[in-house]
Amino acid sequence: MRFGYFDDANREYVITTPNTPYPWINYLGSENFFSLISHQAGGYCFYRDPRFRRILRYRYNNVPTDVGGRYFYIHENGDYWTPSYMPVKAELDAFECRHGLGYTRIMGKRNGLKVDTLYFVPLGHTAEVHQVTVTNESDQARDFTLFSSIEFCLWNAYDDMTNYQRNFSTGEVEVEGSTIYHKTEYRERRNHFAFYHVNAPVAGFDTDRETFVGLYNGMSEPSAVVEGKSRNSVASGWSPIASHSLAITLQPNEAKTFIFILGYVENPKDEKWEQPGVINKSRASTLIQAFSSDDQIESALTALKDYWTGLLSTYALQSSDEKLNRMVNIWNPYQCMVTFNMSRSASYFETGIGRGMGFRDSNQDLLGFVHLVPERARERLIDIASTQFPDGSAYHQYQPLTKRGNNEVGSGFNDDPLWLILGAAAYIKETGDYSILHEDVPFDNDPANCATFFEHLKRSFYHVIENLGPHNLPLIGRADWNDCLNLNCFSDTPDESYQTTENRHGRTAESIFIAGMFVFIGVEYAALCEKLGRNQEAQTAIRHIEAMKQAVLDSGYDGEWFLRAYDFFGEKVGSHENAEGQIYIEPQGFCVMAGIGVENGLAEKALNSVKERLDTKYGIVLINPAYTTYHLELGEISSYPPGYKENAGIFCHNNPWIMIAETVIGRGEQAFDYYKKITPAYIEDISEIHRTEPYVYSQMIAGKDAVRHGEAKNSWLTGTAAWNFVAISQYMLGVRPEYDGLLVKPCIGSEIAEFTITRKCRGADYVIKVKNTGSRKIPTLKVNGTPIEGNLIPYAGAGEHVVIECEA
Ligand code: GLC
Ligand code: GLC
Repeated sequence: MRFGYFDDANREYVITTPNTPYPWINYLGSENFFSLISHQAGGYCFYRDPRFRRILRYRYNNVPTDVGGRYFYIHENGDYWTPSYMPVKAELDAFECRHGLGYTRIMGKRNGLKVDTLYFVPLGHTAEVHQVTVTNESDQARDFTLFSSIEFCLWNAYDDMTNYQRNFSTGEVEVEGSTIYHKTEYRERRNHFAFYHVNAPVAGFDTDRETFVGLYNGMSEPSAVVEGKSRNSVASGWSPIASHSLAITLQPNEAKTFIFILGYVENPKDEKWEQPGVINKSRASTLIQAFSSDDQIESALTALKDYWTGLLSTYALQSSDEKLNRMVNIWNPYQCMVTFNMSRSASYFETGIGRGMGFRDSNQDLLGFVHLVPERARERLIDIASTQFPDGSAYHQYQPLTKRGNNEVGSGFNDDPLWLILGAAAYIKETGDYSILHEDVPFDNDPANCATFFEHLKRSFYHVIENLGPHNLPLIGRADWNDCLNLNCFSDTPDESYQTTENRHGRTAESIFIAGMFVFIGVEYAALCEKLGRNQEAQTAIRHIEAMKQAVLDSGYDGEWFLRAYDFFGEKVGSHENAEGQIYIEPQGFCVMAGIGVENGLAEKALNSVKERLDTKYGIVLINPAYTTYHLELGEISSYPPGYKENAGIFCHNNPWIMIAETVIGRGEQAFDYYKKITPAYIEDISEIHRTEPYVYSQMIAGKDAVRHGEAKNSWLTGTAAWNFVAISQYMLGVRPEYDGLLVKPCIGSEIAEFTITRKCRGADYVIKVKNTGSRKIPTLKVNGTPIEGNLIPYAGAGEHVVIECEA
């Protein structure tokens, strides 16, 4: 069942009912100011850091589920309603939400009044714009009151939810004309404030929540709205809000537009005050003036759309499959941008107060983002590397505001360092910018202890080699990619973290997954050594890689598939010898991606086992059989009920590893089949089962052992976005930047018989026209009409236009 449709021409998903199976959200903002907005206008915004600079308050896991946002209420002769449906839930004659790239429009109609609101964050500004258009579609003149309403968070979102003995007394506002200023804590240590403005005279306002809503009411029946009259309350402590009321008269067919601006402003420390106790509002006025007319809004929206047109033109597909086109051209890169910006911090499943940026997550997010804005990827790589320790290990997470490593979680996740090499390689392949390798980058953010970025990569590589176990396989540490496989942390006490409670520093628990990673990613390190003329070092690296391959073949294969690990006691994990958890997806993906066992058929056998044991109609599960009891020696993985999360859920993040692996052994059809099972546009029809947004990937879909098989959770912020983009664009459609040229190697089966890809890379344009029979191992290519040997197109000069004909 569907709850809307794709409007590809406008790059929008159009939701046609407020009653979706879950709040379906969008993100606004792409630089410093970010917002989450649901199809019912729920959500919040923040400046840079969702924990420390939260502007709107939002209550997670609330009842009803999605209350708190930017609401507009209409009061007309005793009838009151919200065009976003929530929170009043009065019946609407029409409803439509259009989520576009960086903007959302919500339209609601009742009794011949139509209210259409455009929400977006203009490029280069720190504000949400809410442009409200009210139209009288009836044949009588109408008099009504429009109320706005938002609730401020007292900046630190964690404190805001916990420290009531303090924060019930700190709230402060100023009201001047049609602008409400939120200045809690501005008197002392903060030099930032927020404001909510409307470009019209107001009939009244409220800034004290209790006065506006009524102590025993909900947002569905604020007493000021119910009565149709603002109280002009001025908050002092408790919960500051901002609400304007506007008295509006509309003749039949008349429309009026109002522009609301929810802004964030920082003042220099010595320019905080206009006079004692009165904030300096000059920067706020500048912001307000930038968006006071409809023309200004229109040109800011056009600029935003053009910005996206530019970004998306880097990789564009034309094929006969419109679902594939819309994922590759619009929604997948869009989600990649959002995950790059947010990491795992703020979504409807991540509260924005917990995790910072993940070392491994951010490096992987970059893989799907680097072609969009390479300069930002470069900056991110340096930030991440700065949280590495001198021995090559790394903080598992860091805070975006301070860019410092997070001590609570610490380090010891032994896959982390390798992801930095993969991120760096992707950046260099995309840009050809080897200068990054020579940048001076600190360890643990200590400027007194720096080394070149290349040296950081080297330490990443050798961190694996210096930490091998009894089978010459990499030690796992607290966990590898699978955060929940905790082989050294034996937790039997509630309330402690499975990952950080204890680390036995055992030197037995080994990961075949990290071994696969090492082989797949290690070759990038060796290639970079060569590029720098360090041939000796490259040779040595290759010897380590060969030895690792051998170690996997010697001790990492279980007969029909790759083993997952050896535990603290040296026992096998992910083996047919185990009663449960006999086969894990991760090593099947990465070992085959690394080419291990391809020549002797072991790779193919492993992928056949995946098909046989892990594949379901909704995607590939992580393990099989699921664990039915808690295993102290395995950790969190066995704590989840069967079928959920790492315990045999369909973890969409590693499904594309299997797709890529299938292309490595030339099975494009199978790869594309797996792709279609989890890719949102293809499962739009089962939205009532899937439940999360049909335009973005979710982290997890419940597996076959779960009661709610097929139901997704944790949409938006997941490495799934980047990896699926890599799998489809670079391996199935098969256009991938390498160090010395663009590699063209489609492998998608014959279903997509013809397609054209336009790719911008290093300043040149490539148009690649593919005739795809699905039968050639190596495609035959003509470049500007001339046949070439092999399938690597040497990079053209900036400004050049290259036409490639490819038979695959
Ligand atoms: C979550 C984490 C990611 C981890 C994955 C598997 O998505 O963000 O770092 O690799 O779970 O445990
Ligand atoms: C994994 C899980 C995530 C959990 C984390 C730490 O990343 O996917 O849900 O919070 O491990 O336990």
